Amino acid sequence: MQSADQIKEITRRRTFAIISHPDAGKTTLTEKLLLYGGAIRQAGAVRAKTNQKHTTSDWMEIEKQRGISISTSALQFEYKGFRINLLDTPGHKDFSEDTYRTLTAADAAVMLIDAAKGVEPQTRKLFEVCRMRGLPIFTFINKLDRNGRDPLDLLDELEKVLGIRSCPMSWPIGMGADFRGVYDRQSNQVLLFQKSGEANAKTKLESIRVSGMDEPVFQEALELLELAGDPFDINRVLAGQLSPVFFGSAMNNFGVEHFLDRFIEIAPSPSARLSDKGKIEASSENFTGFIFKVQANMNPLHRDRVAFMRVCSGKFTRGMGVKHSRLKKEFKLNKPFHLFAQEREIIEEAFPGDIVGLIDTSGELRIGDTLSVGALVTYQGVPQFSPEFFANVICVDPLKRKQFQKGLDQLREEGVVQVYRQKYVGDQAPILGVVGVLQFEIFQYRLLSEYGVDVRIERLSYNLLRWVEGPEAEIEKIAMRSDNRRIEDRDGCAVFLFENEWALDWIIKNHPALKFSKIK
Ligand code: G4P
Repeated sequence: MQSADQIKEITRRRTFAIISHPDAGKTTLTEKLLLYGGAIRQAGAVRAKTNQKHTTSDWMEIEKQRGISISTSALQFEYKGFRINLLDTPGHKDFSEDTYRTLTAADAAVMLIDAAKGVEPQTRKLFEVCRMRGLPIFTFINKLDRNGRDPLDLLDELEKVLGIRSCPMSWPIGMGADFRGVYDRQSNQVLLFQKSGEANAKTKLESIRVSGMDEPVFQEALELLELAGDPFDINRVLAGQLSPVFFGSAMNNFGVEHFLDRFIEIAPSPSARLSDKGKIEASSENFTGFIFKVQANMNPLHRDRVAFMRVCSGKFTRGMGVKHSRLKKEFKLNKPFHLFAQEREIIEEAFPGDIVGLIDTSGELRIGDTLSVGALVTYQGVPQFSPEFFANVICVDPLKRKQFQKGLDQLREEGVVQVYRQKYVGDQAPILGVVGVLQFEIFQYRLLSEYGVDVRIERLSYNLLRWVEGPEAEIEKIAMRSDNRRIEDRDGCAVFLFENEWALDWIIKNHPALKFSKIK
């Protein structure tokens, strides 16, 4: 077992990610959260907006050109004695597999919803990944200062669309121009809304609490609250079956502090994770961690690769020798740093829940690799998520074939794109698959700038991919149809591309011997 000090460090850690659809207010909420915790380490998670806050992860030329942040990064801050690691999940056009992978490093997720829009497609996809991992999910319903949908309706939607029960921790009183504040269930008080002007939107805002609930609007809110959701049950929350719901307005910095206070109380600290050797407790003595993201050439001057590791157990110290599960060799962690880019800060130690950047000049760290002290262990892999956009990639200059292959392999390992082979064609005409279309451009740009290879990308009309298992004869039968294409992944597993749900559904219905899966 660890020393009391180490247990204390684990207990005070909260590692989470915000999942949302573009424009729900993730950047705004992140900024407000940082106001409450003096950000001790910032990792470019906050997107540049009218230059007030220039993101430090803007390391890639393409990011600069577009003014967006492509890289996933993490922010670390202190709040009321807690050490919070907020993982950034790219969410706009830069939505990619990284967004999904980041969730494998989180212990909880905050689902941010625009009160006027409800559950939107990207939220839904990210929610599914959280669900798969059984992550506790907190909901923050944002933009109450604007007219939105009926709160009961929104909770109903969580249940219907996402299949998760909810437990309101607060309840809005009015909305839009009539927004008066929220009733806090725990303290039995109302937090009165003050519209923040430009000046105090950027400062901590003390909520005014009133205890008297005599006004009719307050009574009405209380009555509705009685009807809404399920009672609070910590075990169901931790199992990801019940989502505590909060209401507020990130822009006005309203409800954010209330949320954060409850969140640190309820959200779990790092706990046991499943490995090939069984469960490993975060408090176990030996260090373990896994790589959930790899980024190459972060610093154009150094052309290096950085692997991002989530510490899972034990204590990480700079320069420690670890075992590399896949390569079965010793590895020295010499240059660990807290993120990011131009501002790298070498770290001396880290605890479960923390994210550590590792400089990997030899290219030996890949997504899903486990590093450990003591016995060799391997954590359950980071799953491959099914891409939704596909393209042929053609190497324009046949003499550059070798560099092309090298770039393709490396960018695949880094997780920029998935690469598939066409059956019987081999490596000659690879098919790329991505979760967000911007990845095609990044891939093309990086092949040219880093490997000197010009490629043409030709989009395919398929948008569904499924791994298939079952008798080969049956697989051959569906491959004969014209509404799909048979390909294989890098391990030679059978994969099919479909143009639409309809084509897939038909096949599922008519070929019951085959099993189709979205995730491998
Ligand atoms: P994102 O990262 O999830 O994409 O969202 P972001 O924070 O950029 O917010 C999207 C828009 O929603 C922004 O407006 C932002 O000001 C607004 N917003 C965020 N929280 C609230 C809120 O509580 N109430 C209201 N009314 N609006 C909110 P924008 O016009 O796109 O950008 P900006 O010019 O305000 O920066």
